Amino acid sequence: MHPKKEVKWEATQLVDEAKREVAHEAAMMVTDGQVLGLGTGSTAHYFIEKLGERIKEEEIELMGIPTSYQSFFLARDCGIPLTTLDEHLPDLAVDGADEVDPQLNLIKGGGAAHTLEKIVDSAADKFLVIVDESKEVQKLGDFPVPLEVIPSAYRPVTEWVKAAGGVPSLRMAQMKDGPVITDNNNFVVDVQFKNIPNPYELEIALNSIPGVVENGIFAGIADQVLIATSNGVKSLE
Ligand code: 5RP
Repeated sequence: MHPKKEVKWEATQLVDEAKREVAHEAAMMVTDGQVLGLGTGSTAHYFIEKLGERIKEEEIELMGIPTSYQSFFLARDCGIPLTTLDEHLPDLAVDGADEVDPQLNLIKGGGAAHTLEKIVDSAADKFLVIVDESKEVQKLGDFPVPLEVIPSAYRPVTEWVKAAGGVPSLRMAQMKDGPVITDNNNFVVDVQFKNIPNPYELEIALNSIPGVVENGIFAGIADQVLIATSNGVKSLE
């Protein structure tokens, strides 16, 4: 392997291990009988897998409410009984994030699932965020803010966003053969802002643009964040 590629591969492995570590710690915090919001993404993936193991090995009874089709199928394959927000509200929701600031404000939506994630995470008694330390920032905004947008509103939404000082970019599928389509059949527009002085205000402003279904700023929703660092897992509350 080329030395540069090897260094990159090793760094990816380390991040992956950190994600697994923090996800397992969160899964060990779950208690018998709980209804859980099941987040989306690679860190949430490890959490869901570990919950499945605990159900088999410890015979605990849990129910999950997935935040995406991805989490739905994974949880089902891991043997986690599923329910809906119609039937139960989650005791605890566990989800990853793309950025976390010291006030526990988040940017989410790297996996295009932020609409249902925000619904499930906000409905939970407690919302626990699990991340590796690359996600910890002093101020939100290096990661673009994802907007879930109704396709026919794409053009006017981008005009609104530009007028508000953002640089919008339609999220394309990995093969670049078309746009990413969300579980709700919408587009994702990623918006880069120069800075985000007030995440609460921006979250409300973006959701007031006609055609925006939901944006990826989660201001004041998280109760606790577990961060995997090189010195172990630390907690922010
Ligand atoms: C999906 C999300 C994810 O939780 C976020 O993108 C973090 O993903 P990962 O754990 O893979 O780094 O918000 O919409």
